[in-house]
Amino acid sequence: MATSRGQFNTRIGFILAAAGSAVGLGNIWKFPFEVGQGGGAAFVVLYLTFCFMLCFPVMVSEIAIGRKTQLNPVGAFKKLGHGNWSIIGLLGIIAGVLILSFYNVVAGWAFGYFVEIVQGNFGIGEQFPEYIQQIFKVGAYGIIFMTVTAFIVSKGIAGGIEKASKILMPTLFIMIIGLIAYSLTLDGAMEGIKFYLVPDFSEINGEVVYSALGQAFFSLSLGMGALITYGSYVSKQQNIVRSAALITLTDVSIAFLAGLMIFPFVAYLSNGSMEGVAGGPGLIFMTLPGVFESLGPTLGVVIGSVFFLLLSFAALTSTVSLLEVPVAYLVDEKKIKRPYAVWGMALFIFVIGIPSLLGNGYVESLTSFMEIHKEGEWQTKGFMDFVELIASDTFLPIGGALISIFVAYVWKTNNLNEEIAIGRENAIPLVTKYINFAVSFICPVILGAIAITTILDRFFGVQIF
Ligand code: PFF
Repeated sequence: MATSRGQFNTRIGFILAAAGSAVGLGNIWKFPFEVGQGGGAAFVVLYLTFCFMLCFPVMVSEIAIGRKTQLNPVGAFKKLGHGNWSIIGLLGIIAGVLILSFYNVVAGWAFGYFVEIVQGNFGIGEQFPEYIQQIFKVGAYGIIFMTVTAFIVSKGIAGGIEKASKILMPTLFIMIIGLIAYSLTLDGAMEGIKFYLVPDFSEINGEVVYSALGQAFFSLSLGMGALITYGSYVSKQQNIVRSAALITLTDVSIAFLAGLMIFPFVAYLSNGSMEGVAGGPGLIFMTLPGVFESLGPTLGVVIGSVFFLLLSFAALTSTVSLLEVPVAYLVDEKKIKRPYAVWGMALFIFVIGIPSLLGNGYVESLTSFMEIHKEGEWQTKGFMDFVELIASDTFLPIGGALISIFVAYVWKTNNLNEEIAIGRENAIPLVTKYINFAVSFICPVILGAIAITTILDRFFGVQIF
């Protein structure tokens, strides 16, 4: 069966595909403004610590489970002889489906912005709240995005996912470096860099630590079996530990570079004062088009369209991995042929994403969908926030905690160590020891605590910090 499932052809192909899954809207859309709000470099230090100390051991575990079993997340836990634990896989698949349902909507905005900026429509930034209510337009971009995603996934592992990642990831990297080089030449660039990077430890509080943790975990695509799935296409010659380290490093580097690219732009617009800049998610969609406009009609179109194309590419390698998780499940467990699984799933996910599409002002009941407790107060949030809360803020840390518990206490760390020893040269024993210690103690406790905090605070208003 393993051969009919497909495999990554090359080591670099797997690393690029997994890094492609990790690098996404989370890095370029969310990370910079979280850094800006969370005390600059102080947040970056926290984030790096969490990525390497907490997330990396979970990543190694996921890839090892995948490669050992050569199966999707549900089949993997069953094959390791513990049928009940396949609930973790099921939870992951549900999380993936839900995340893709709203992620695709935002990816559609990014692609739509590319089309607008190519046409020189810089006013789109100010029109953002109205733009996302033009549901036929943004809906069509969502359909295009999902179709391209499904097309790549339908071509299989080597011919689809690996091939696309080998083209998209280097292109993304070149675009980001080019944009940084340009943005650093702008007036006020250094003010932007200072705002981004000079640490302000007074901004660090419980909420900031919580969001750095959640961001690290989401950004590395952990907790929902995406890396179990990709790991199941990895050959026995590969060094899992080294690959996981490279994937983590690529992800944090791109997130860091995204900030270096964005803050000089923002500083330029505000003449170095960093005032009047849309914080939060509006940073990219509302502020940046104005920056591009100020560069003049030709340069603005070039720089602006490269930026939104980059954002779309980053999103695309992530949507591909999100779709591959339920597809692998249908192919392995339900014996459905890949093309049917892919197109059927893509349609299903697009449909369940429609309320997220409508809940941005178009339909009032979906726009003011529920009260979520955040930063000490109840806030009215839309359907998209609700799905994000359930799937990424709740299911992912639960999944991560359960995966660590499974590896440490059910499958046992000696089996993990046996799997990661295959294809691993020049192993550093201390790294293995740390991974074992982290999955046994640190990951279950911290990830469990995040999940409990999310549920108590966001849903029940029990203020933890
Ligand atoms: N890591 C992606 C991002 O940062 O945008 C999002 C993501 C993709 C999360 C795939 C989970 C996943 F399985």
